[in-house]
Amino acid sequence: MTATFDLIIRGATIVNHDGRRRADVGVRNGRTAAIGDLGRADAGEVIEAPGLHLLPGVIDTQVHFREPGLEHKEDLASGSLAAVKGGVTAVFEMPNTKPTTSTPDQLLDKLNRARGRMWCDHAFFAGATGDNAALLPEMERIPGCSGVKVFMGASTGDLLVAEDELLARVLASGRRRVAVHCEDEFRMRERKHLTDGGDVGQHCNWRDAESALLATRRLLALARVARRPVHVLHVTTAEEIIFLAANKDIATMEVTPQHLTLAAPECYETLGTFAQMNPPIREAHHRDGLWRGVADGIADVIGSDHAPHTREEKAKPYPNSPSGMPGVQTLLPLLLDHCAAGRLTLERVVDLTSAGAQRVFGLAGKGRLAVGYDADYTLVDLAARRTITRDWLASRCDWSPFEGKEVTGWPIATIVRGHVVMREDEVLGAPVGAPVRFVDALPPVG
Ligand code: DOR
Repeated sequence: MTATFDLIIRGATIVNHDGRRRADVGVRNGRTAAIGDLGRADAGEVIEAPGLHLLPGVIDTQVHFREPGLEHKEDLASGSLAAVKGGVTAVFEMPNTKPTTSTPDQLLDKLNRARGRMWCDHAFFAGATGDNAALLPEMERIPGCSGVKVFMGASTGDLLVAEDELLARVLASGRRRVAVHCEDEFRMRERKHLTDGGDVGQHCNWRDAESALLATRRLLALARVARRPVHVLHVTTAEEIIFLAANKDIATMEVTPQHLTLAAPECYETLGTFAQMNPPIREAHHRDGLWRGVADGIADVIGSDHAPHTREEKAKPYPNSPSGMPGVQTLLPLLLDHCAAGRLTLERVVDLTSAGAQRVFGLAGKGRLAVGYDADYTLVDLAARRTITRDWLASRCDWSPFEGKEVTGWPIATIVRGHVVMREDEVLGAPVGAPVRFVDALPPVG
């Protein structure tokens, strides 16, 4: 009897837990059903992919999609469109919207807004505040919640848990890994005067390396007392890499493509406030430290920290210009380009964009190109040379710090649970995104 599948991807080199090999992949009912020689099988849809590489779907574990309240910058539809155009199959979205996502109802509201409008799978973080610790255990158990997010230093929006006492309360409430933006609010308040001259080049001096390290150290001390696993978001300093390497039993960590690509002072000279983000882009020796974190396996995931603001907002004089840059669509092209330049292997790209997310956040049935798992794939052409241009970008903010950059390596197709949602830069079909499932917050039966 001839095997039949909904979709077969034929002849690509697949890259997964097994290394690299040429194989066909068959999808049935949204899951990977077979890997091997499917030359005699039938399928409703076939993608011929010789010469291309098939990766487990790329997961971006940190994006800001601005809905509700800041839809002039982005919304769940436009942000997820940018994601799939860039080869991303799932995103975890941050709680600093307007209102913030700090009650169960606000989290459920985001999940409702996402239904039928998002192009990729998604999860939402619960935002910790100074007084919602009692709500966090309930929030983190809602299916589709990626966990609790804490801002130790003020950034875009109102979420802030600056004091040890309040942070300890958050860490004592709930079980899942807590994701934390580590910048020490008190040190930054003392140094804010450094921004008085209006020079964006001071951004990484105001919010200096010590601010980041101090907060990460404070977090780890409190996490040990609470015996709570933590995830340090967008690590930016060489010192934190060394420190986190000594704390891998309890702490995981993220790096961003922009911190691996750009460096101070050049980025501020060329991009001005468009290079401004928190924690800041720093000098080249910190960037080298982050690359060591990638090479040594200390970094667990890559997140883009996609943080769109309009061009008009970003063009305001520093320090009135908002912090953040878009990145969900350029995450994979940048990583593939670094891969082409020999800075990391394709296997490490897979580890950082799928297996890492699976391990850090406890994804259920996702994050692995294997039989039985969700059929999320990113098909890439490692040899394609392309230039990042504004007309390719889908984010509502309509700019990228990487416009004009030529890269080697490009996403050719994005497949979400067996649905081909992007092929050759064209978005296809309907927004099929669904909530990501987590081992610690499985949806009810039925
Ligand atoms: O630069 C940043 N922008 N860092 C953050 O922590 C928040 C983000 C935003 O939401 O704009």
